Amino acid sequence: MKPVNVQFRDDYRAVILQDQTVLPRETRFIELKTPEAMHEAIFSLRVRGAPAIGIAAAFSYAVTANRLDVADTGALKEALTAFADYLNSSRPTAVNLSWALNRMEAVTAVNLALTLNELRQRLIREAIAIQEEDVDMCRRIAENGLTLLQENDGVLTHCNAGPLATSLYGTALGPVLLANDRGMKVRVFADETRPLLQGARITSYELDRAGVDVTLICDNMAATVMKNGWIDACFVGCDRIAANGDVANKIGTNGVAILARHYNIPFYVLGPTSTIDFETATGDDIEIELRDPEEIRSKWYAEPQAPASVKCYNPAFDVTNHDLIAGIVTEHGILRAPYADSIEALRRTLFDKTTD
Ligand code: MRU
Repeated sequence: MKPVNVQFRDDYRAVILQDQTVLPRETRFIELKTPEAMHEAIFSLRVRGAPAIGIAAAFSYAVTANRLDVADTGALKEALTAFADYLNSSRPTAVNLSWALNRMEAVTAVNLALTLNELRQRLIREAIAIQEEDVDMCRRIAENGLTLLQENDGVLTHCNAGPLATSLYGTALGPVLLANDRGMKVRVFADETRPLLQGARITSYELDRAGVDVTLICDNMAATVMKNGWIDACFVGCDRIAANGDVANKIGTNGVAILARHYNIPFYVLGPTSTIDFETATGDDIEIELRDPEEIRSKWYAEPQAPASVKCYNPAFDVTNHDLIAGIVTEHGILRAPYADSIEALRRTLFDKTTD
């Protein structure tokens, strides 16, 4: 199976994206040729979910390299740096965006001796590698997360961390989809996820299509399903994991974690190591995106659901303190508290060739 949510057009001069804003009523693919079009697609959540944003940015970088009319690789590098700075400003919280752009920039920087055409081919290969590695990471996260589940378990999830938010398989939904493939019954309760309804529009769509037993609830019903004894574990994705294990994810995630602690339910975060920001010390250092008040005031109903003049506060993400998290499921296994130590040990495995 190959990812369909982010693809190259055959000539590598456009990115083809599945537009997530029109789900579940329509499966629509859009062609993006310019930096401005990709910036708009990320900002408007046509492509959303931390890993998918990173992959789309890498594809857009390679397409931009192909379309830029420049004299040599030095000029290409300069123009691509401006492109990366611009695209990086589209959404601030998911670290995968800057992670993917930095990786593409590093490949450009070390290959300036190639011909223009060779460098452009190299960048296409790097973007594809980022996507293929994400497929592999998600598959391994699904296997690791499945070890936390038993037959007939109830799982509560928030927002959407499914296949469309990544490359294939997803993160938080990966273990559930894998369980389903293997004939193991797991029940999922999906928070609708106000204000942009990723849980209602995307999670319930993905799970329902896959034949998983999914029940959609409003966000304010999470305490009730926990109190009813229907939830054995919470599985959520992540947009940035700080070095101490604090996790930024969709607004409302912190509330789910606090409820889970009250009802003694393990709360797990699932994400690839590309979502760990080793340079950010704690959750307090993570920039939280603020979005348009109209998403709360008037977006989803034929008539505005609040007075036009009312003040609205619309942060897109919140930070869950590491002490509420039972485990962080990565492609390299399940990190446990103390997270400062387990994340540092992972960093050394990934980046340090020597141990001291
Ligand atoms: O604003 P969104 O829809 O991009 O927020 C997405 C989330 O919060 C996801 O949980 C996160 O990106 C993980 S996706 C595997």
